[in-house]
Amino acid sequence: MKKGKKLYEGKAKIIYATNDKNLVIQYFKDDATAFNNQKKSTIEGKGVLNNRISEHILSNLSQIGIKNHLVKRLNMREQIIKLVEIIPIEFIVRNVATGSITKRLGIEDGTVLNDPLIEYCLKDDKLGDPLISEQHILAFDWATKKEIEKVKKMILRINDFMVGMFRGIGIKLIDFKLEFGRIKINGKDEVILADEISPDTCRLWDSITDKKLDKDRFRNDLGDLIPAYTEVAKRLGILHEQSNVSAVNVTKLSSIKKKSK
Ligand code: TMP
Repeated sequence: MKKGKKLYEGKAKIIYATNDKNLVIQYFKDDATAFNNQKKSTIEGKGVLNNRISEHILSNLSQIGIKNHLVKRLNMREQIIKLVEIIPIEFIVRNVATGSITKRLGIEDGTVLNDPLIEYCLKDDKLGDPLISEQHILAFDWATKKEIEKVKKMILRINDFMVGMFRGIGIKLIDFKLEFGRIKINGKDEVILADEISPDTCRLWDSITDKKLDKDRFRNDLGDLIPAYTEVAKRLGILHEQSNVSAVNVTKLSSIKKKSK
C-alpha cells in the first residue's frame, strides 16, 4: 500500500490518498482543540492512544455487525480506512446530561437520562457546529429520511454495546459523538460508521470516583490527559504494561508490539 498525497487535514487527523482509490490512510495527530478551535495545544502521545483505542472499539463493533470504515491499523498513528463521503452531521449520543446540554437547557449536570438522547449538529467549524433538528437535515438535503432512520438504529446498537463494554471495565459512557459516511458496497449504497471513537470523542467517567478519563481533561484544564487515556487503553486490554505509562513509553511500546507481531 503506497501513501499518496494529503487529501484533507482536520483538527485531530489527516487523510492521505493511497494507490487504491477506495482506500485512504487516516493519521492521528497529537493536536487537541476545544470550543471550536478556540483552545489549541499539542499533547504528545494522544494520537497514538486514540489510534489504538479507536481501532479496538471499531473492530469490536464490526464483530457485532456494525459496518464501519476501518480496514486495519497500519502503525502507531495510521489506519487504512475505506473512503466514504462523510454525512455533514455530528451525531451526539447522551446517556447522562453534562457539557453543552446542561448550559443550553439548564439541566442539572450528571442527570441520568431514561433513554439515550440523540442530538444532531451541522459539521461546520465556521458556524461552530450548530445544533439542528431532523427537519433541518431533510429540508437542506444533508441526509435522506432513510439514511437518518438507518443511522439512528445503528447509533442505539452502538450505544448499547459501548455502554456495556465500558461498564465492564469500570467506566461510565456519559456521551459521545459519531460520524457516518456513504459508500457503495457491491453496487449498493450503504451508510457506515466512520471517523473515530476515542476519549477525544466520548465522555468517560470512572464508575466509582467519576474521575474524567476523556478530553474534558484538556477542555477544562484538569491536566494529566495522557495518563487518563492510557488508563482507558489499559482497562480495554490494549496496553498491558506497568502503570503510569508516559507518552514516550506508549510510543515505544506500540512500536515494540508491532515488531513482535
Ligand atoms: P458537548 O457536550 O460539548 O455537546 O459534547 C457532547 C459529546 O460529543 C462529548 O462526548 C464530546 C463530543 N464532541 C466531539 O467529539 N466533537 C465536537 O466537536 C463536540 C462539540 C462534541
